[in-house]
Amino acid sequence: MKKITACALGLLFCLGMKSQTNMSTFISDLMSKMTLEEKLGQLNQLTGDDINTGAPSQTKIGKELIAGHVGSVLNVQGVEKIRLLQKMAVEESRLGIPLIVGLDVIHGYETLFPIPIGLSCTWDLKAIEESAHIAAVEASANGIAWTFSPMVDISLDPRWGRMAEGNGEDPYLGSRIAEAMIRGYQGDYSGKDNIMACVKHFALYGAAESGRDYNTVDMSRLRMYNQYFAPYKAAVEAGAGSVMTSFNIVDYVPASANRWLMTDVLRNQWNFDGFVVTDYATITEMQKEGWGIGDVKTVSAKCLKAGVDMDMVSQGFISTLGQSLKDGTISMADIDRACRRVLEAKYKLGLFADPYKYCDAKRSKEVTYCKEHRDIARRITAESFVLLRNEGNILPLDKTKKIALIGPMADNKGDIAGTWSFSAKPEKYKSVYEAMKAYVGKKGTILCTQGCNLLDDAHQQQAVSNGHGLTPVPRVDDAEAKAEALRIAKQADVIVCAMGECAWMSGEGTSRADLQIPAPQRRLLEALKELGKPIVLLNFTGRSTVLTWESQNIPAIMNVWFGSECGDALCDVLFGDTSPSGRLTMSMPYSVGQVPIYYNHLQTGRPVADGEPYRVFASNYIDQPNGPLYPFGYGLTYSTFSYSDVSLSSPEMNSNGSVTATVEVKNTGSREASEVVQLYIRDIEASISRPLMELKGFERITLKPGESRKVNFAITPELLKFYNYDLEYVLEPGDFSIMTGPDCKHVSQAILKVNK
Ligand code: BGC
Repeated sequence: MKKITACALGLLFCLGMKSQTNMSTFISDLMSKMTLEEKLGQLNQLTGDDINTGAPSQTKIGKELIAGHVGSVLNVQGVEKIRLLQKMAVEESRLGIPLIVGLDVIHGYETLFPIPIGLSCTWDLKAIEESAHIAAVEASANGIAWTFSPMVDISLDPRWGRMAEGNGEDPYLGSRIAEAMIRGYQGDYSGKDNIMACVKHFALYGAAESGRDYNTVDMSRLRMYNQYFAPYKAAVEAGAGSVMTSFNIVDYVPASANRWLMTDVLRNQWNFDGFVVTDYATITEMQKEGWGIGDVKTVSAKCLKAGVDMDMVSQGFISTLGQSLKDGTISMADIDRACRRVLEAKYKLGLFADPYKYCDAKRSKEVTYCKEHRDIARRITAESFVLLRNEGNILPLDKTKKIALIGPMADNKGDIAGTWSFSAKPEKYKSVYEAMKAYVGKKGTILCTQGCNLLDDAHQQQAVSNGHGLTPVPRVDDAEAKAEALRIAKQADVIVCAMGECAWMSGEGTSRADLQIPAPQRRLLEALKELGKPIVLLNFTGRSTVLTWESQNIPAIMNVWFGSECGDALCDVLFGDTSPSGRLTMSMPYSVGQVPIYYNHLQTGRPVADGEPYRVFASNYIDQPNGPLYPFGYGLTYSTFSYSDVSLSSPEMNSNGSVTATVEVKNTGSREASEVVQLYIRDIEASISRPLMELKGFERITLKPGESRKVNFAITPELLKFYNYDLEYVLEPGDFSIMTGPDCKHVSQAILKVNK
């Protein structure tokens, strides 16, 4: 292949510097010079796992890069290594097209925020946007141009471990969070610290049957449009640059090969103009060992035709699309379309103008895990904790008291960052024990021990850490560990248990059939309870766990969600510098038998209200309530709030009008605290069955003791619309229930009549 001259290369870059209006001309010009092989190269994404040692150009990835066979790499870390790869792409390949380097920067880079489900529990869109921006600042300084985030899959089933990576069960809240994250990552692409977002996993990945990862999904179109699609659509409308396909089937066709999904919905209905990448090795998995819809050539062609632009690591596109072009299965226009979209993304990011834009070692040193980022992460992490129970006001703790800190997460640095934190530097983070010791200083005493195994099964305990580069939670002798725990607990004034799941008990491939605190930890909790001392349970988790026994036996319980600053943030809340303010974004069930469980469900023909006794021939369980143990939107703080009834500025509105719903909230306790005031709406009668209630607004407010505030919500037609039987987005006039309150279970309501 003839090398293009340095002068021509320079010209390409100069052209790249011109404004967006030149993008189309620039890319057409570039594409006119590209061979078929080079075009297919742009659609090929390789993983950089194999470039850890040696001179990269000697490795497979290096050779492929220089040959123009690679458009993107993922899983490479370190600004120097990435610069080297970029140099090969830009200076050694024939056309010098820069690489786009992607990584899963899911809840931060080295400064790690709570895992996404925890971040969602802040209900603080500004904070979420800020966290995404900080993630982008650090990632971009370390060579990363593209993050595989936000994950916006709605999940109603906590058996599915990837609930940890999303924003819970609600379409409205999930949509607002998706938009905030896109803003935080991408900005307007102009800054050195703006990176491209990737909305995933399109679509319906969170609806895997029985909560088992990668499992079958089967869903009505109405449910897709009214419940599951909203956050993907919101992210696309917020300008997300890329979309990742999901690992599941949709209508019996793997999402990546589903033309209806990738083209009709995503492109034609939602006007998505970025590029689509498959998930990891999806093309490989579509063959007969997996879904069985064809050999690599067949499925690659199907995916391209469906609207996929880039193949993540399967190398199906690069190895077979040439043949498919020859035999007419696909056309040159199909390839050109995908190639153009990938090049456009690179252009938008400014990579043609400056391929080393993201390779600034000096900036990397300045911004990565800097004090400013750590302080912000600490504040936001403290906002995410959800206080579920605080009988007798055990919390906040007195730092002059003697505290026994016990559990597999008590002195654990390896897991503190949480799932999906590949750039974590655990050695820099504090364990809860280290943070507490530093916090109380000489004033108090913290005694600490692991106390039990994480899981009874040694293989499982090892497996949840292995493969993720973490140090597994140490195996301990049950009897000895328990004896030590009881010994220190007896000396203490209060017992704090840091228990639950380690980092990789949630995230990809971490489905659980039992959602209780793992058995050895529960046994220890039971033994500690017998001491009759005050106990606080810090429930480390990435999902809704089942805390039925704990809710009856452990007086104080708080859900906590990892993060590099988790230890310090816990001290801020446990010792009362900050009042807890997180609210659940997913229902917490009484038992796994209730799942899937979610507040915005439809009514049945034989409904039984939550709390009513069991009735035969009605829609309820003999042995458990219908509702959850802790509902969506729920969370306590160190103060109390009273709510007025909701009032409407008018009892009627026209279908193009608007009214204001108002509720007055007062801090009736003795501490400053934050509250998330929530608005729910029910369409009482419609042409199809509509949910009992749906979140349609919220406002996070902070009030001083005795202070009250009126919170207003504008009820606009948009909030009343839904997809009807024919999938038309409509407002059907009639009566609507307008509800406000501190969570979905404790609301007051007013009826709004909507006229034609
Ligand atoms: C996950 C994606 C992730 C990708 C790249 C896949 O296994 O499903 O969420 O972005 O790997 O690491």
